[in-house]
Amino acid sequence: VVAYLEHCMMDPGSARPSIETLLHAFIPMPSVVHSHADAIVSLTNTREANDILPRVFDKKVGFVEYMRPGFVLSKNVGQLVRDNDNLDGVILIKHGLFTWGPSIKQAYDTHINLISRAEKFARDFASSKRIFALASGRTIDNNTQQTIAASLAPILRGTVSKNQTMILRYDNAPDVMEFVNSQEANSLSQVGPATPDHTLQTKTKVLWLDPKDPSDFSSAAAEVHRHVEAYADKYSRWYQANSDGLHPMLDPYPRVILMPSIGMWTTGSDARAALIAADIYHHTIQIMKTSQSIGNYVSLSSRESYHVEYWPMELYKLTLSPIKGELYSKVALITGAAHGIGRDIARQLAIHGAHITVTDIDIKAAQTLAQEINDTNGYGRAQALALDVTDPKQVAQAFLDLRLTYGGLDILISNAGIAPVGAIHELPLQQWQRSLDINATGHFLVASEAVRLMRDQGIGGSIVFIGTKNVPSPGKDFGAYSAAKAAEVQLARVLAIENGDQGIRVNVVNPDAVFEGSGLWSTKLKEQRAKAHGIPVEQLEDFYRQRNLLKQRITGEDVAEAVLFLAGSRSSKTTGTMLPVDAGLRDAFPR
Ligand code: NAI
Repeated sequence: VVAYLEHCMMDPGSARPSIETLLHAFIPMPSVVHSHADAIVSLTNTREANDILPRVFDKKVGFVEYMRPGFVLSKNVGQLVRDNDNLDGVILIKHGLFTWGPSIKQAYDTHINLISRAEKFARDFASSKRIFALASGRTIDNNTQQTIAASLAPILRGTVSKNQTMILRYDNAPDVMEFVNSQEANSLSQVGPATPDHTLQTKTKVLWLDPKDPSDFSSAAAEVHRHVEAYADKYSRWYQANSDGLHPMLDPYPRVILMPSIGMWTTGSDARAALIAADIYHHTIQIMKTSQSIGNYVSLSSRESYHVEYWPMELYKLTLSPIKGELYSKVALITGAAHGIGRDIARQLAIHGAHITVTDIDIKAAQTLAQEINDTNGYGRAQALALDVTDPKQVAQAFLDLRLTYGGLDILISNAGIAPVGAIHELPLQQWQRSLDINATGHFLVASEAVRLMRDQGIGGSIVFIGTKNVPSPGKDFGAYSAAKAAEVQLARVLAIENGDQGIRVNVVNPDAVFEGSGLWSTKLKEQRAKAHGIPVEQLEDFYRQRNLLKQRITGEDVAEAVLFLAGSRSSKTTGTMLPVDAGLRDAFPR
């Protein structure tokens, strides 16, 4: 039938027909509207639904007991409508509403009318008892809340990413906080999702996490880890109990995680999927609240949920997803990413699926690039943060933001740099110091934060330092730059030694003379380098090209290609190395 419906499409390139296509087709009217409106689902998902629904709707609305969407449900609804030609709409229990009419406007107006009736009923008959009343001791100040969320996020992300890397999205919106801090949240959160469509995004059960003391990091981290694994075990048992053996088990880790005082995390294979799960759970909270105000919230049974999650139509849909890039679901942070080589790296990693935190002192240009990446590669693929690599406070703040936005980090590209010139006997101390601050200490500050995060996360990682050809082969009048960059490379090697046992790889890319797009090559630098090489400045670019073995010009894209290789799993057995991108310079051969 799926193939048949595709065969009937007027435009073969358009979206695949929905599972509900036949249901629409079997209703004998030109226009049909279907929704899972919160107001309707709030009534159908009460234990008292059979009493409530006839009080709200007249005889012109039909009811159909819960059944998994598909051919049989479509036939049943079609039959009901044909047998009762006075009907305006049909309510599917624990699912949603269908209305129809000779025109889309009439179908829509009926839809709104029925939803408004449901809303009015919920308002008029809401019990006077406070729903989601605050449990004692659950409110904490915003700073503590964010600090705890940021510290636990990598633990969560690492644990839920055992089978496939996940993006972890943090949410502390007022409705979420009201719910997680309420007396009912623990038990109510375990009842289940409101509709089959919700189940597909949030799974049958959400994880309720309540560590004894969330502010004590090590005990809370251990508890978080244990509870997430217990969730996965329980999921496997649920799968075994219901499975007919036809479909392999899906990822057993939760999509929605709730923690009192702290908020909600949702997971997804990209930022968009994590946002959809969050969006659905906001609706679930609203539905539970209304249901509880007029009765008792109920959900699909365990078996019904199984048949939704392992619905052959949905599993089939998964097989149709486009091939994902090699860095899909990965999170990368790049320093000095607003211009030059850093910008080329950001674009390259984004094309291959990574979520990029674009950091720079030039926040305007960083924001422009993040916007470009989001426009080109999809929702939430990039964020821009102001980050001066020499300022420990800004570094700490950027990593806090990163933990809250994506939950962790897989790839650090330590790139920001400056290139002061001058012979050592003429060099002012302040210039030497500035070079050390940015080209050496800046890398230390960012890398040490990244390593701490990656170690907490426990799923390895890749760090790439942008060095320079000057490290193995220094040039005259470039002492402050070469010495600081040598410190950067030595830092990289020590990090590789210290973190290999954690699966964290650390490598260096050594470019030579990238002119195009680089702000490093100021007029002053060009003049000084030309002088150092004894050539006119206009011959400088050609000089660099002629001195390499391949006689090639080096571009930022060439450097980004090398970074991509070292960032991803194609180089999974490589750490502690330097990869030159210099078109072959005998003096700079790594040794
Ligand atoms: P660029 O000047 O075009 O870009 C550097 C970026 O770093 C800029 O966006 C700048 O705003 C940012 N930045 C400067 N100070 C910062 C700070 N304190 N904190 C955070 N960001 C800061 O330079 P380019 O050419 O893209 O250089 C990038 C890296 O590549 C540097 O580490 C450089 O040493 C290295 N490199 C460059 C070569 C070249 O020929 N362009 C050759 C070899 C290495």
